[in-house]
Amino acid sequence: MHVHKYEKIWLTFGIGSLLVFLIVLGWGAFYQGTQPPSCLVTLNPQNVQAHNSFKEENLGVQQVGENEYVVNVLASAFNYDLGKDEEGAPVKKIRIPAGANVTFQATTSDVVHGFHLSGTNVNMMLEPGYISDYETTLDNPGEYTLVCNEYCGVGHHMMSAIVEVYE
Ligand code: CUA
Repeated sequence: MHVHKYEKIWLTFGIGSLLVFLIVLGWGAFYQGTQPPSCLVTLNPQNVQAHNSFKEENLGVQQVGENEYVVNVLASAFNYDLGKDEEGAPVKKIRIPAGANVTFQATTSDVVHGFHLSGTNVNMMLEPGYISDYETTLDNPGEYTLVCNEYCGVGHHMMSAIVEVYE
């Protein structure tokens, strides 16, 4: 079969461009690894309790300064663990004063979950092995629902908790 000289040149050029494109794409996607954007700290999802923030007694709201709070949340199918109250019942509602500086720190012990505090900018993706955090100030008093916005299984729609912002 006779291939015209110019056909050869263009064919080479075409294949070359394709290779460059694939290399750039592959480099962009994998060079830095894939991880959720808001996560910098890693931990073992099989043993999240090894990290101080996710020990049973440290879950839920912690006051860390005069007007500063940290909220540690451990997500799992299909629950947000915010610690236990005095009677040993799971906490389903936490309270934070309006205008306080609050940092939500969350992780998951199983699959990917969402962390969206509806009506606010707090919106994170929780991936096993990573701690996601979000620092904010909630100025408007009211009850906000924490919902999972990543499909995680049959109980996905049942994952919720309440954050009350009080005056
Ligand atoms: Cu957890 Cu959807």
